[in-house]
Amino acid sequence: MTVCEYKPGLEGIPATQSSISFVDGKQGILEYRGINITELAYQSTFLETSYLLIWGALPTQEELADFEHEICYHRRLKYRIRDMMKCFPESGHPMDALQACAAALGLFYSRRALDDPAYIRAAAVRLLAKIPTMVAAFQLMRKGNDPVQPRDDLDYSANFLYMLSEREPDPLAAKIFDICLTLHAEHTINASTFSAMVTASTLTDPYAVVASAVGTLAGPLHGGANEEVIEMLEEIGSVGNVESYLDKCLAHKSKVMGFGHRVYKVKDPRATILQELAQQLFDKFGGDHYYDIALALEAGVAKRLGEKGIYPNVDFYSGLVYRKLGIPTDLFTPVFAIARVSGWLAHWKEQLGENRIFRPTQIYTGSHQTPYQPIEER
Ligand code: ACO
Repeated sequence: MTVCEYKPGLEGIPATQSSISFVDGKQGILEYRGINITELAYQSTFLETSYLLIWGALPTQEELADFEHEICYHRRLKYRIRDMMKCFPESGHPMDALQACAAALGLFYSRRALDDPAYIRAAAVRLLAKIPTMVAAFQLMRKGNDPVQPRDDLDYSANFLYMLSEREPDPLAAKIFDICLTLHAEHTINASTFSAMVTASTLTDPYAVVASAVGTLAGPLHGGANEEVIEMLEEIGSVGNVESYLDKCLAHKSKVMGFGHRVYKVKDPRATILQELAQQLFDKFGGDHYYDIALALEAGVAKRLGEKGIYPNVDFYSGLVYRKLGIPTDLFTPVFAIARVSGWLAHWKEQLGENRIFRPTQIYTGSHQTPYQPIEER
């Protein structure tokens, strides 16, 4: 075996072979199973796209109807899961609540048959169906309310917005939310997906796979950035403060949240679509002054950091869309997780197809033959 050079963050090191999605970071292209993300965003639905990601091909009408029916049937939570959630501190972050809930599903559905396609499908359906219910239930419970039951007459996205606010959403809002889920469903071997794959490679259960990925997505350098973008826009406060904010950021070498990407060196295609969606919402429901700040920030960053390939990533405009949809800021990352479950599951299934446990090597930088020093001599 050839000894490779150490690359911090494994930059540029292939860790798997995959046919699920493709990113061209120079041209700003993203494809799921070969289909351009823009086509999927505007023509598909989140559940159809999830089917495509997990099973590798677009479903027929009958396959899609069966899949949607199964998801709808499995949306409800066992009362013991709801009771467990009632014990969570209301001040806890919803991502921590979600990670605990995803892991807890393994207690309730403990059969593990990774070579049985029916088991794979049932686990995938259960996770896709129950995770939105869990996110919405925690939101209502932390406000002191009982969670509401899912509504079978509403589709996946409309039902989630309904469970969150106890009100039936506007059809445009539900459609735009569904597109957001499609845009966030998959993105090659990013940090949380890699986490999912490492966990999957031990042949543990899919609930542990998703729980580990949720924990990884929560960090501010990954999915957590969408919350920090809103906090940053809040801190900037007005268009007039953008330049001084950027001066300060660059002087302190701190990151401008929602910008930059390991792979994209141009504007993330998802950011372009999310910006369009934000505009559609502003046209129908009224503007948001944070959008003016965001536009000024995008122009300022392009001027100062464009040469380095630092442009808006998926997290930059998503928060503005979610804000307009009435989603609280600390639910932005759980909403990302609702979408990314389908990508994690696709990689889980692919990993099982040709599994070898992940066990990389390291370059040891410590000492050798160090004598043990008794505690009283230290
Ligand atoms: N603001 C200012 N400078 C930046 C930014 C940014 N947002 N992103 C990268 N840079 C600069 C770095 O300072 C560095 O400059 P240098 O070479 O002069 O030292 C160079 O660009 C490379 O940056 P790295 O941090 O080494 O790039 P890496 O590929 O490791 O990190 C990451 C990518 C984590 C996304 C980074 O751009 C970042 O922290 N962005 C802000 C957080 C964010 O928005 N995360 C969401 C990413 S999308 C997602 O995960 C869903």
